[in-house]
Amino acid sequence: MLHGPNLNLLGRRQPEIYGRLSLEQINRKIRALAAELGIEVDIRQSNIEGELITWIQEAPKQFGAIVINAAAYTHSSVALRDALTAVGIPAVEVHISNIHKREEFRKRSMIAEVVVGQIAGFGVNSYLLGLRAAAGCLR
Ligand code: DQA
Repeated sequence: MLHGPNLNLLGRRQPEIYGRLSLEQINRKIRALAAELGIEVDIRQSNIEGELITWIQEAPKQFGAIVINAAAYTHSSVALRDALTAVGIPAVEVHISNIHKREEFRKRSMIAEVVVGQIAGFGVNSYLLGLRAAAGCLR
């Protein structure tokens, strides 16, 4: 489970859009669901594009699927798209907000075409739906 830039500020950052739960509170819900589903989850957050890319590159050694909220890098990062394409394990794109009913620049996702699917607009539930989707992709 990869959280991209500024998601460490959840709870304080535009709560009317992203909700009032902190990243740690969201992570607790993710871990609880993983336990319920009987899967292991490793959760990481970075504000650094290259760090996210390194984690994606290393993922196949340890993990069967990726769930990613690439945050603002969603809209800009060819490098993240290339990394997801290169590793070839299933990835699920998640967003707390519905990026399709916000500013024009948020409607374009650089990674949408290389992931299995996208879940957006369900608040914290986007992560939980994304985890369920990823669990369904595990062999
Ligand atoms: C986001 C949507 C992005 O447009 C934004 O840059 C974020 C969060 C979301 O979860 O709704 O940081 O990915």
